[in-house]
Amino acid sequence: MTLEEEIGNRRTFAIISHPDAGKTTLTEKLLLFGGAIQLAGEVKARGERRRARSDWMKVEQERGISVASSVMTYDWQGSTFNLLDTPGHEDFSEDTYRVLTAVDSAVMVLDAAKGIEAQTYKLFEVCRLRDMPVVTFINKMDREALDAFDLLDEIEQKLALDVTPATWPIGMGRDFKGCYDLINDRLILMQAADKNIRSEGIALKGLDDPRLNEYLPQDRVDSLREQVEMVRGLCKPFDRQAYLEGHLTPVFFGSASTASGCVICCRACGILHRHRERRRLWSARSIQKSRSYRGLCLKFRRIWTKHRDRMAFVRLVSGRFKRGMKLKHVRTGKTLSVHNAQLFLAQDRELAEAAVAGDIIGIPNHGGYKIGDTLTEGEEIRFTGIPSFAPELMQRVRPVDPMRAKHLARALEQLAEEGAASVFKPYLGADWIVGVVGSLQFDVLADRIRTEFNIPVRFEPTELYTARWVEATDPKVLKQFMDANRAALAEDHTGQPVYLARNHWHLNKGQDDWPDLKFLKTKQEVA
Ligand code: G4P
Repeated sequence: MTLEEEIGNRRTFAIISHPDAGKTTLTEKLLLFGGAIQLAGEVKARGERRRARSDWMKVEQERGISVASSVMTYDWQGSTFNLLDTPGHEDFSEDTYRVLTAVDSAVMVLDAAKGIEAQTYKLFEVCRLRDMPVVTFINKMDREALDAFDLLDEIEQKLALDVTPATWPIGMGRDFKGCYDLINDRLILMQAADKNIRSEGIALKGLDDPRLNEYLPQDRVDSLREQVEMVRGLCKPFDRQAYLEGHLTPVFFGSASTASGCVICCRACGILHRHRERRRLWSARSIQKSRSYRGLCLKFRRIWTKHRDRMAFVRLVSGRFKRGMKLKHVRTGKTLSVHNAQLFLAQDRELAEAAVAGDIIGIPNHGGYKIGDTLTEGEEIRFTGIPSFAPELMQRVRPVDPMRAKHLARALEQLAEEGAASVFKPYLGADWIVGVVGSLQFDVLADRIRTEFNIPVRFEPTELYTARWVEATDPKVLKQFMDANRAALAEDHTGQPVYLARNHWHLNKGQDDWPDLKFLKTKQEVA
């Protein structure tokens, strides 16, 4: 297979949803049908210990939430899928945002009874920023649901997105019989008996096919025909280009827990998610030839805590990676031979002998990589677009043993490099300020600093309201500002000045008094 063909086979995507909409259940079905797991239920333990199998950290297990995103690779009908798991808990949305910058498309899962919920909306907005193609999966049709037309209308209105139903539900709740696949003219009946059976559906010659009556009662057939006629009149036909540009979403109805409709969703992913077609997005940032290897470091997680090693997750943006390859770490200019990169299967990791654009590899390391770092075969290019968000909550962190302040500083720096939190060193005073997006992150950080760095710490509340990165075109103005506001300033782990506002008024005053400065809520990590 040529490099182009291999790359064409890759689909790198994420599933976005509001907690409880069914993301884990759908993931499980995708992995099951992709042969990556044997039985539904392996991804998720039942009851109290509910959590995705991709959760590795103790704190995630204890709390039953998925904290950090990970990667799962599976094959489906000749294509290789890289599914980047995103944490469902809203406190960890920053990590999710970062993952969304590294995928080529997203599947948006909605609960049919609830429509667009707050978190879905937020995540969709991130996809929109990048014109990302989004496939919609309306889940839980086997429960009482909103009217299918109303759901389509809500997507159209709230997300300002054209919709094209790719399947149409037959009934809902207890009366849910399955879906009609409008693209391939197949009837997909709900498999009540075995949740793990993959049903390809029954091929028909269209909605007028008299064989429909063999499977559905007459009144069902009539209302299906009527509804489909109506929806076809109301919605735009599927336009591949509009989908790829993020203006139109194909909508699939189904029930992940009963596996109904998942197959068509999987198939849709197979047809629609292509690295190659999104390449313009990556290559727009790098004008040079694209056959050589380039990778972008998008996240970290800690592995083998005893040795304090880390895994840098690197998204291949172009070319092919081969084991042992010499790669240039553009930020530091160092060259490294990568022998121990890993690929991630649903439950295991394996040594990466080769990988192509679209794949995610993990590079174990002892530090030295940062979010947004670029690895190339020698080119001096830098990918941008991995955002950091101004934290919404800030606390002071102190070691329980004051003698360990220096060790804590190093630990915080590493955590900031991983993107686990924002870390600020005020220009005045000896304490560190840690900023996060959601309060649960403080617990996770305290746990990590204690277990991974052996430093028990205390987090203490501060009066701070928010932080803004400060930038100026004129260095003189920046210096004047810094001299006048030293007590409200800190630097982040990269040394960039940050304005720590005590309240909304304080923030506004800073902005009003210094109109030539930019107070940035989002900072793009630049390698
Ligand atoms: P999330 O990852 O988006 O947070 O959602 P998850 O898949 O964990 O699903 C949330 C709940 O919704 C689970 O029930 C799950 O079984 C249920 N669910 C998911 N898909 C469907 C569906 O198509 N139909 C129905 N009826 N339910 C669905 P739970 O009670 O919270 O957990 P459990 O009883 O499954 O352990």
